[in-house]
Amino acid sequence: MPYRPILGRFLQKPEDAGRVRVAVRVRPRNDEDLYYDSELIDCLELQPELRRLKLRKNNWSSESYIFDDVFTESASQKRVYEAVAKPVVETVLSGYNGTVMAYGQTGTGKTYTIGSLGNDNSSERGIMVRALEDVLAEISPGLDNLSISYLQLYLEAIHDLLAPDKNNIALTKDSKSGEVCLPGATVVEISDIDQFLQVLQTGEKNRHASNTKMNARSSRSHAILVVHIQRSSKGKDENEFLSVNINNSEEFPHLSAFFKSKLLIIDLAGSERIDESGVDGQMLEEAKFINLSLNSLGKCINALAENSTHIPTRDSKLTRLLSDSFGGTARTSLIITVSPSARHYSQTSSTIMFGQRAMKVVNAVKLKEDYDSESKYRKLECQIDSLTSELEKQQKDKLHLERRLYEREMTLAEAENKLFEAEKKLAVAEEKPAATSEGQVEGSTYQVTVAFNEMEVTDLMRKLEEKRSRHAKMEQQLTEFLQNGTWKFAEATSMINLLIKLENHQAAAVASPRTQAMVIWFALIPIALLSLYFLW
Ligand SMILES: Nc1ncnc2c1ncn2[C@@H]1O[C@H](COP(=O)(O)OP(=O)(O)OP(=O)(O)O)[C@@H](O)[C@H]1O
Ligand SMILES: [Mg+2]
Repeated sequence: MPYRPILGRFLQKPEDAGRVRVAVRVRPRNDEDLYYDSELIDCLELQPELRRLKLRKNNWSSESYIFDDVFTESASQKRVYEAVAKPVVETVLSGYNGTVMAYGQTGTGKTYTIGSLGNDNSSERGIMVRALEDVLAEISPGLDNLSISYLQLYLEAIHDLLAPDKNNIALTKDSKSGEVCLPGATVVEISDIDQFLQVLQTGEKNRHASNTKMNARSSRSHAILVVHIQRSSKGKDENEFLSVNINNSEEFPHLSAFFKSKLLIIDLAGSERIDESGVDGQMLEEAKFINLSLNSLGKCINALAENSTHIPTRDSKLTRLLSDSFGGTARTSLIITVSPSARHYSQTSSTIMFGQRAMKVVNAVKLKEDYDSESKYRKLECQIDSLTSELEKQQKDKLHLERRLYEREMTLAEAENKLFEAEKKLAVAEEKPAATSEGQVEGSTYQVTVAFNEMEVTDLMRKLEEKRSRHAKMEQQLTEFLQNGTWKFAEATSMINLLIKLENHQAAAVASPRTQAMVIWFALIPIALLSLYFLW
């Protein structure tokens, strides 16, 4: 499918959403280029408006390459930042991980592009400083949190640039997020840009750099700035996370989710041809390690570009560190730097090929939302406490109801006995005949007795009916009470399940002793309730 560079900038194809963005920047000619190349024709022809770069092999053949951006020698640091890094910074501020990285031959301007502090001239500030300026302008002090770590990968060991004695920091994988992390690295909270510039300056002093034939201050290590951003996201619907809705009560106000994202800004050491850079001894050793790690990065990019099933990420620390940046969940921008000189044609060509392959890598960019598990945990505990006291109150109510029911049953039995006696008397009175006058008198006395007994029976039957209906009402109350108790138990069980979930969420292997105790406690309550019910 033909690629339309100008339209593409505005109408990004959907399948491009997670694609690694690649820009190319050409360094201005230096004294050496002017001296050695005065006779040679340029090997690069740039068409920034078409985002096209032509690499000329000789007078007759040239190849054209399209990039996401093409920057000429005169491109300002501001423009490069805005096109390459700012979109990534904005994505990171919205809760995604991001990476900005410079790759290229030694002496082509990677450190200038990424790490320039602009001490004498603020327009020279590089991507690191500008990115932090933007982050600081965007976050809310007090609510959000910004911190950094600054490291170098030197001879396959990770050194802390902010604490030089930490020179072998472990690279591990976070069990929860699956992301690579550096738990031993110094983390410094940043509150303003001057403080950040000071921290960066301290780090720069500790970075390995040497004078080579190709660059007076050649970086001998890969520098990695890790920017950690934590932003609260008040108002987001968190019910997705909670299996029961506990947010609807005033007692348990809305709990907050937050974004925890990470921005990596990487200034790689440059690839170098030993014969050109003229290094030996320790610097030769360094160059071997630099080339080795860049080679394994190239292999991973090739494998990802070809959709290979095996990505050799574990071949070097650099590729492990970048596993989220290439083929992971981060939004990634790469700036490749090249020399304009025809003397470096083959290095320029291989850098361009690296950039072209990187453009084929598509990441599955993912939101890094997290939840304030600590505060949820505490609030669930409160809710369980309140459910516990309600259950205790219900227990007391139940005992009271049972006592009243027993008393009613006693009165009912008494009434039934009285009724039985009255019916017996009535039957005896009805059996007596009235044959004589004496008998007639006796008969009328019996009639009075019968009438009296009938009245007593009717009265007793009415009382009995009343007692029966009160008894039924009592039974109904008890059943409702038990149902209510079962519901409360179900709610408490949900709460416990949530607590267990939260504990798992916090990577705890087992539930806390408090939760275990509560689980046992809540398991006993329904058993007791049901046994009482059945005993009764
Ligand atoms: N776009 C630019 N504008 C002005 N000066 C530049 C530019 N790019 C590079 N330079 C200068 O070129 C020199 C080499 O640049 P830099 O140290 O950034 O190269 P590098 O790619 O980091 O090299 P290495 O891989 O050896 O560390 C520096 O003096 C730098 O100031
Ligand atoms: Mg450098």
